[in-house]
Amino acid sequence: MASSTQSPVYRATTTAPVNIAVIKYWGKRDTTLNLPTNSSLSVTLSQQSLRTLTTASASADYPAEDTLTLNGKPQDIQSSKRTLACLSSLRSLRKSLEDADASLPKLSTFPLRIVSENNFPTAAGLASSAAGFAALVRAVANLYELPQSPRELSRIARQGSGSACRSLMGGYVAWRTGEQADGSDSLAEEVAPASHWPEMRALVLVVSAEKKDVPSTEGMQTTVATSDLFATRAQTVVPERMDAIEAAIRDRDFPKFAEITMRDSNTFHATCLDSWPPIFYMNDVSRAAVRLVHDINRAVGRTVAAYTFDAGPNAVIYYEEKDSELVAGTVKAILGSSASGWEGPFYENLAHLSAPGVSLDQIDTRVLDVLKGGVSRVILTGVGEGPVAVEDHLVTERGEAIIN
Ligand code: DP6
Repeated sequence: MASSTQSPVYRATTTAPVNIAVIKYWGKRDTTLNLPTNSSLSVTLSQQSLRTLTTASASADYPAEDTLTLNGKPQDIQSSKRTLACLSSLRSLRKSLEDADASLPKLSTFPLRIVSENNFPTAAGLASSAAGFAALVRAVANLYELPQSPRELSRIARQGSGSACRSLMGGYVAWRTGEQADGSDSLAEEVAPASHWPEMRALVLVVSAEKKDVPSTEGMQTTVATSDLFATRAQTVVPERMDAIEAAIRDRDFPKFAEITMRDSNTFHATCLDSWPPIFYMNDVSRAAVRLVHDINRAVGRTVAAYTFDAGPNAVIYYEEKDSELVAGTVKAILGSSASGWEGPFYENLAHLSAPGVSLDQIDTRVLDVLKGGVSRVILTGVGEGPVAVEDHLVTERGEAIIN
């Protein structure tokens, strides 16, 4: 446990959500500023299911170096250029406030003690860096009482991890690639709040990977450098899809939203396969999930479900609340007791289901076995809100870290 202090300890605590892109960010045009080659768009997921909780604290009495503890483990932030870049940008914004108002405590000169925890296991293979950097930036911005909007703060979170800039807002969020060389216009913005289309649900199928994937930062560099398909995706395919999916969101047109989402995931993974040497993130279980979604949509006679995959084998299946039985109900009937996670606030309308929404003889039999053997856990969630300031501090009034 860290030592306590005599001087005041300033604290701010926030939660931040995970987001799952429907138009994928893949490729950097500037690795130092972390600028993307294409715009992207994501759905922020409910923090009732998945969230990072972070307390930022500052005190004149803390030992000289900033510290960060994540899930109880001290992190080496001095060698993390990304974390240092975020903290230095936040400090300089605080310093301008202090320069303009001499009565403000000089927090920009105090060391920071940051404590963070996720409410989901890292082993679930969910990209936690987006929620993590969003929470870090939001917590320090709150501690420093910065007036900047989430959109302006997204410029800072982007330097931590690209996808993190989209976790500073709730609902449906676009990250605009921007045109300026200094990245000043490469920002996230809300396309629609969660309340515009609150019926959106997401079912995460947690698939265990045999070995660790190529990390996304490294994978996208290989794709940019070697894939012939990549330039077409970034320059032509994605700009058209951004316009189309924003229209689908505006009109709450699920079939359109779903087709673009599935096609964009497929194009992204096609550029991975087209990289040299090729990169594989999806595995046999992922492909079974793709087939399942197409089989469900065919059996129902309309598009009720959409899959998407990030840089790993987990499937995220989007659907609307009204189709829960058809989509989540069918997945539940297939997995039975072989997968855990059928619980929580988004499970309520499924709890009493006795038969699958779609008869299992409509689904390819190979799919049933592969999914049953390969999905260990599900997470039922839906669209949700952005970061929320809370009082469950992970640092005491005396500056001690609380490790749960
Ligand atoms: C496939 O945001 O993890 O999830 O900026 O290098 O930290 P860095 O990459 P990161 O990449 C996420 C890639 C993705 C697609 C997406 O979230 O848009």
